[in-house]
Amino acid sequence: MVRGRKILLGVTGSISAYKAVYLVRLLVQEGAQVKVIMTPSATGFVSPTTFATLSKNPVLIDLLQNEKTGEWVNHVELGAWADLFIIAPASANTLGKMVYGIADNLLLTTWLSAKCPVMVAPAMDHDMYHHFSTQNNLKTLNEKGVAIIDPGKGELASGLIGDGRLAEPEAILEKISAFFLHNSFEGKFIGKQVLVTAGPTFEELDPVRFIGNHSTGKMGYALATALANAGANVTLISGPSQLEKPANVKLEKVVSANDMLTAVQKHYASTHVVIMAAAVADYRPVNRADQKIKKAGQSMSLELEKTTDILKQLGATKTSQFLVGFALETNNELEHAKQKLEAKNLDMIVLNSLQDQGAGFGHDTNKVTIITKHNKIASFELNTKAQTAHHILNAIAQNI
Ligand code: CTP
Repeated sequence: MVRGRKILLGVTGSISAYKAVYLVRLLVQEGAQVKVIMTPSATGFVSPTTFATLSKNPVLIDLLQNEKTGEWVNHVELGAWADLFIIAPASANTLGKMVYGIADNLLLTTWLSAKCPVMVAPAMDHDMYHHFSTQNNLKTLNEKGVAIIDPGKGELASGLIGDGRLAEPEAILEKISAFFLHNSFEGKFIGKQVLVTAGPTFEELDPVRFIGNHSTGKMGYALATALANAGANVTLISGPSQLEKPANVKLEKVVSANDMLTAVQKHYASTHVVIMAAAVADYRPVNRADQKIKKAGQSMSLELEKTTDILKQLGATKTSQFLVGFALETNNELEHAKQKLEAKNLDMIVLNSLQDQGAGFGHDTNKVTIITKHNKIASFELNTKAQTAHHILNAIAQNI
């Protein structure tokens, strides 16, 4: 959940600042971008060099970076950069200053101007934690939308046993992941049953030959990955594809349009959202030869018959499912896509144009236009397939 997220970590003066070092390492290992702000007193506990090395970013401490040149850190930009500002450990002193708007260091000026969500993980002695002043400050912060990561119980720096130990880095990472999960697409996909189809279908002519197409499955696999990350229960029904199974996705491999139809029908009744990203063959050979077809005359004809239009059938038997189709067009794109949306009783259609460079089969990028059944049209620039999946899920989330 934290992959690619921008996380600003504030570290205040506490003996537990060493745990923030582990937190940075975990976040970076999980693929997050991390920038660290330390209060001047935090630098007495852990060296900024440690944080700078692990986060691969310079550590920010003073508002004024260079007194001689007047170079200063733009704390407003820092808050705007971050997807999340987490202060761990958060000392009693910093919590109090946060509530009263005292901006006497870079961390606090950043807090006062941050527009991103903020979390605090308090760390202090048992009595300081239970003092009415600290408890009131935590209550106020929480009421104002700051998430509190409760401290644990155990041995404290004072030698006492009690509350106030900074939550363990793994537990903080879990809270951060849960936060991003609930914030991705407003939590709309959490627990939803979603069916995604991907890749081509192969229609066999004989034991060695088939009719197929150039689809690689990249778009469908990117959608399945993004949905699993957003908390959906994803079943990915894939035609022949070289791609690896995405994590936390149930993968069912099929070969022909008919296999895909059977697999999709098996899940349809209990599915909330269906995304048909597969490039299903429209025709298949009437006869499949049991033995390899030997070459004979100068030409040969194949008799083909229509496959079942899976999506059309789903549209015809729809109860409460949200149905998303794809349309690959070469001319009169918008018009053709709208016709398909209506003819197949879809809720949304994603249009790819073969006119667009870098879009369609085999590319790592795609350029799509999303059309809803209420005729809302959104066109996107050329994006990676992962970004395109994000746009598609965003559009679905706004309509379910
Ligand atoms: N589709 C399907 N079953 C088929 C053919 C297509 O479910 N036998 C789905 C695709 O997965 C896609 C949508 O229908 O989501 C549009 O497919 P496309 O081939 O572009 O459109 P068609 O309706 O087949 O029309 P045409 O090929 O004439 O453009």
